[in-house]
Amino acid sequence: MRIADIENPTNMYFTGNWAPVQEEHNELCTEVIGTIPPELAGSFLRIGANPVFVNEDQEYHAFSGDGMVHEVYFKDGQATYVNRFVETDGHLAEQEHGDLIWDGFKTAPEMVAKYGPSKNIANTAMVYHAGKVFALQEGSMPFEVKLPNLDPVGEYNYDGKLDYVPSAHPKIDARTGEMVTYGYGVMAPPFCQVSVINKEGELVHTTEVDIPAPIMMHDCAISENYTIILDLPCVFDFNRVAEGKGMLYFEPNNASRLGVLKRGAEGETIKWFEVDSCYCYHTVNAYEEGDEVVIDGCRSERNSIGDDVKPGPGDRSDLPQMYQWRLNMKTGEVVERLIDEEWGCEFARINEDYIGIRAQYSYAARIKGDNLESGFDGIIKYDHVNETSTHYPYGPGRLGGEPIFAPKPGGTKEEDGWVIGFVRDEELQRSECIIIDAADFEAGPVARIVMPGRVPFGFHSAFVGAEFFEQQG
Ligand SMILES: [Fe+2]
Repeated sequence: MRIADIENPTNMYFTGNWAPVQEEHNELCTEVIGTIPPELAGSFLRIGANPVFVNEDQEYHAFSGDGMVHEVYFKDGQATYVNRFVETDGHLAEQEHGDLIWDGFKTAPEMVAKYGPSKNIANTAMVYHAGKVFALQEGSMPFEVKLPNLDPVGEYNYDGKLDYVPSAHPKIDARTGEMVTYGYGVMAPPFCQVSVINKEGELVHTTEVDIPAPIMMHDCAISENYTIILDLPCVFDFNRVAEGKGMLYFEPNNASRLGVLKRGAEGETIKWFEVDSCYCYHTVNAYEEGDEVVIDGCRSERNSIGDDVKPGPGDRSDLPQMYQWRLNMKTGEVVERLIDEEWGCEFARINEDYIGIRAQYSYAARIKGDNLESGFDGIIKYDHVNETSTHYPYGPGRLGGEPIFAPKPGGTKEEDGWVIGFVRDEELQRSECIIIDAADFEAGPVARIVMPGRVPFGFHSAFVGAEFFEQQG
């Protein structure tokens, strides 16, 4: 059935600002509070799960909806809003069929025979590399789209060299132009593979990394010389499905390990470091300092995914917080610590020229309560050198998502750029795109663009600068 036809949905992801939208826009934003910086040029992209059909209201899982991109295209001090489904073959097939075709393990065999085993849902993150823009999801092949109109191009496998499904979080080294990507397997080994794609967009190296159990490995990190692999105990166990439970659960008895692999080296040379039991959906950055590889990430003590009972109020075990691991490559020693004891945060982004080297600043979505379900009520700017932070709270009744750093053209300093994100104002019943000068963060937005349509909460953001559009002609 169509979600839009459900009269009184009970699934939280079909209500409020989680509810998907079905209309697509491509129009100039005419209402702006403040001034859009005229030198801001390029596309702010935010992707998320935007389901169209469901079999049962309560059966929908937040990660499984069709990808939809919300784009704000900046040029000459004006903003154009474009939102569009990622038009994968599977999305288009369901539109034509008029209902759900794929429903996990319950997909009808005749549908599998007609349409294939699964749908590319391309809903998690976007990346721009070597002249191409991809929508990514960790169970689907990269799907290329064209900007600014988000026209579909198709799945991309690097001339057949990418023979596994990569994660949604590759990392680009701005100094070499290389993109490091990896993927994880859930049915059979190898449970992790890592690849290097050079600046021309050729996949030049793939290696397997031995992981003892199939796990959800949502992110990685890179430093100048290394790739950091997160072997953290969110385990896939398909036997649980027969018991009516989720296939994924946190197993604290399994070790939590960070692996450091030289870029381009073979997987068996990885150096593992056991760390305190934890989960980390997203790293912030990594860098090398003396003998140490340093990783900052949004880390929680555990992850209740798959648990029947979620942590109650006051239980912060699921709360991601800014954290640091220091791994000594010579001695094997690990030093780890919480950086921000007070606040929870997620989706921390940096000036991406600093991926792999020490960045002073990150910009993170501030978590309102004790876990992610309470939403994001502001942005925290962390100064990782002085270990201080400043906050921009969105204000009462306003929640947002992942901020992105858009570099200022010709900028030379790390803070030369803008922090951009979507905010939903429930009282005013409107969505805004806010733009904050990163160097003048406390001042709040220089522009709040009133969006011509509701922008639901979603997953990750990206910024594709004007150079992409110049290259495309
Ligand atoms: Fe993610």
